[in-house]
Amino acid sequence: ARQQQQQRKTLHDLMNSCADYFAHQLYQHPYAQGVQDYILGRGLTEDTVHTFQIGFAPPGWDNLIQHFRSENTNRALLKVGMLTQNDNGRIYDRFRNRLMFPIRDIKGRVIAFGGRVMSADEKPKYLNSPETPIFHKGHELYGLYEARKALKDFDNIIIVEGYMDVVALAQHGVRNAVATLGTATSETHVQRLFKQTSEIVFCFDGDEAGRRAAIRALTNTMSSLKDGLQARFLFLPDGEDPDTLVQKEGHDGFMRRVKQAQSLPDFLYQHLQTQADISRLDGKARLASLAQGWINKVPEGFMKQLLLNQLSNLVGLSIEQIEQQFKPEPPSVP
Ligand code: GTP
Ligand code: MN
Ligand code: MN
Ligand code: MN
Ligand code: MN
Repeated sequence: ARQQQQQRKTLHDLMNSCADYFAHQLYQHPYAQGVQDYILGRGLTEDTVHTFQIGFAPPGWDNLIQHFRSENTNRALLKVGMLTQNDNGRIYDRFRNRLMFPIRDIKGRVIAFGGRVMSADEKPKYLNSPETPIFHKGHELYGLYEARKALKDFDNIIIVEGYMDVVALAQHGVRNAVATLGTATSETHVQRLFKQTSEIVFCFDGDEAGRRAAIRALTNTMSSLKDGLQARFLFLPDGEDPDTLVQKEGHDGFMRRVKQAQSLPDFLYQHLQTQADISRLDGKARLASLAQGWINKVPEGFMKQLLLNQLSNLVGLSIEQIEQQFKPEPPSVP
């Protein structure tokens, strides 16, 4: 166990060194000017670049290999996904010619990277580190380390989609945003955030993909809804993301939208009513039956009672009648 701990420390140190290396390339590499222009074009200040330690992975196949020049280090770089190996066993840099976003764990240690291309025709737009012994996507949130330091000034944590959203919001003083890493919001994400704050605000694009992502987030929040915890849902106009919006509307404009975000119960019942027309009696039955699966996930408490209350109002049945139906079926007697 001690040896494993030692090894993890070595891997973390190595990732920190990689972040330092990329940060230096942003100023020292012959192509640095082009990267600086890209950053400027995206509206980021030097201060922001510094805060998030944004860097540049130069073009070429063996920059990290040449930088560290050690067989042992190459093995470790493979383990943390900074090098990759082809079928012939040749090893080479995973991140080439990309703008680099170091991903930190909650303690601030670099555990992975996201790398963005800087021209529209290159694919994929973002390349993330693979799962490694020190990086688990379903667990980590980009910006959590930085957001945590700012939390005394904020009432909530905002979850957004992308790196650039977190960074642009922070630059405009909205320093409480975090992003999932190209994955859906998981139950683990929600549980981790509720350890830091009593309110989560989910922020999604106004398009169909955004609505689907919101419903996934809703699903993965229900089981965490202990009394005192709150979640709200913010939908942005179609075609905008938090980055473009905060650049347009500024800190105050964005915060106004956050204030108006829909409460979880409102979003839940609105969503269920897209599947059940409660102007009809059979629609009410459908709503009640759909709601059952959602409400059952909520821990016992006032929140659960209030959701039942609301359902009772919507379908015109008493809470007793609803709970009667919600009771799990008794085990069948053989
Ligand atoms: P910009 O285009 O730089 O403003 O980034 P964005 O964050 O607005 O990107 P987008 O809305 O397209 O995607 C949101 C997030 O999904 C990104 O921050 C990435 O984490 C992830 N993502 C987007 N494109 C890709 C991709 O091609 N591959 C992977 N693995 N993840 C991606
Ligand atoms: Mn972890
Ligand atoms: Mn979208
Ligand atoms: Mn986006
Ligand atoms: Mn964007």
